[in-house]
Amino acid sequence: MTKDTLTITDNRTGRTYELPITNDTIRAMDLRQIKVNDDDFGMMSYDPAFKNTASTKSKITFIDGDKGILRYRGYPIQELAEHCTYLEVAYLILNGELPTQSDLDQWVNEITYHTLIHENMKQLIDGFRYDAHPMGMLISTVAALSTFYPEAKNVDDPDIRDLQITRLIAKMPTLAAFAYRFSMGLPYSYPDNDLGYTGNFMNMMFKMVEPKFEPHPTLQRALDVLFILHADHEQNCGTNAMRSVGSSKVDPYSATAAAAAALYGPLHGGANEQVLRMLNKIGSVDNIPTYVERVKNGEFRLMGFGHRVYKNYDPRAKIIKQIADEVFEVTGRNPMLDIALELERIALEDEYFVSRRLYPNVDFYSGIIYQAMGLPVSMFPVLFAIPRTAGWLAQWVELLTDGEQAIARPRQIYLGEDERSLVPISERG
Ligand code: CMC
Repeated sequence: MTKDTLTITDNRTGRTYELPITNDTIRAMDLRQIKVNDDDFGMMSYDPAFKNTASTKSKITFIDGDKGILRYRGYPIQELAEHCTYLEVAYLILNGELPTQSDLDQWVNEITYHTLIHENMKQLIDGFRYDAHPMGMLISTVAALSTFYPEAKNVDDPDIRDLQITRLIAKMPTLAAFAYRFSMGLPYSYPDNDLGYTGNFMNMMFKMVEPKFEPHPTLQRALDVLFILHADHEQNCGTNAMRSVGSSKVDPYSATAAAAAALYGPLHGGANEQVLRMLNKIGSVDNIPTYVERVKNGEFRLMGFGHRVYKNYDPRAKIIKQIADEVFEVTGRNPMLDIALELERIALEDEYFVSRRLYPNVDFYSGIIYQAMGLPVSMFPVLFAIPRTAGWLAQWVELLTDGEQAIARPRQIYLGEDERSLVPISERG
């Protein structure tokens, strides 16, 4: 008869332990009973970078990395990208169900009426150096929002939480666009309530002196799809930062700033920026073989390739590749695309990449589209952070309402000096 347990024999003592298995997982705390002496601390598991540790139970996003599957709340990403708007998907991620038409109307209305930011925020943005990276500005200004909404610290009050969620999702595009306008030396462009979420973002980014900005429908839809693809991705580095920082019960603006800071790194949401820099550096299709050799020699990584979870083609990259053609019909073809396509072709045939199961990830093609739409490379991680805010906040609420969660506080294996006596400075070395 099979049993949902794991039997462990400790060969140091000969003792045997039977640990329950739930969801193919054992609880790390169940290892603590394994001791040699009664006063031992007990056994721990060691897992740098959480490569095989579930930090939470979650009902938000499902990924099967081997099969290349991504679902939000059970819905395949392909269907959501085809049929929904970003705000519809954000509602789904946050609430667990797709909205009815009247739910959606109310949600869109709430978001639309919270897009303005306090005028003092402009002074904060004006204080940055002329060449400040927009992601640094976004991280700082999101954190600064906590000072405008001090009630946000009441994180256990569901109504207060909901209001901050609305504010954050509504204001992220405004903060992002204002950072961009500052770096371009352009006057700030205020939200236009007639436009949808991404259309209004384009208005705040690109409006010049025309009385009314009209977003191109194809580009607006492409941005909406890109936002859907980036809305959540279970326990990645930024989300883990959101949960870890949020577990101290800090306000959601501070936690979102921490998540955005994690996202900024070149191995995470900063990769799309690095992909474009890499394609520029390669410069032409002829230089690809030499570049790939250098990657294989370990000089640097092929940015936009590989993933901790996907060991197959990232389903998001597939969808992005499809919408690229629609965008290029409007904007003209981005010459970087030829380099990217050839790079992908070579890499997918090369033993180094095949044996390591390295495939293009979401960042490989997104930057090429953003660039074609006229967005500067430094804005790419910002364009990742805006839609990911919905995912961060859904994960934050899940954390706060999960009775099993507590402040995140990993253990360590201490390998430093044992106790020793202090030598006065005059007698040292
Ligand atoms: N180029 C060349 N070699 C690579 C790459 C790459 N992009 N990614 C992994 N490898 C190699 C790595 O050197 C190692 O080889 P070996 O076994 O010989 O030492 C093997 O593949 C396994 O790599 P790993 O570092 O153990 O894998 P990981 O799961 O820790 O890293 C990753 C995942 C995404 C950090 C990594 O693939 C990477 O650095 N990719 C480039 C950056 C990038 O595109 N990041 C965006 C990720 S998707 C968006 C997001 O979620 O933020």
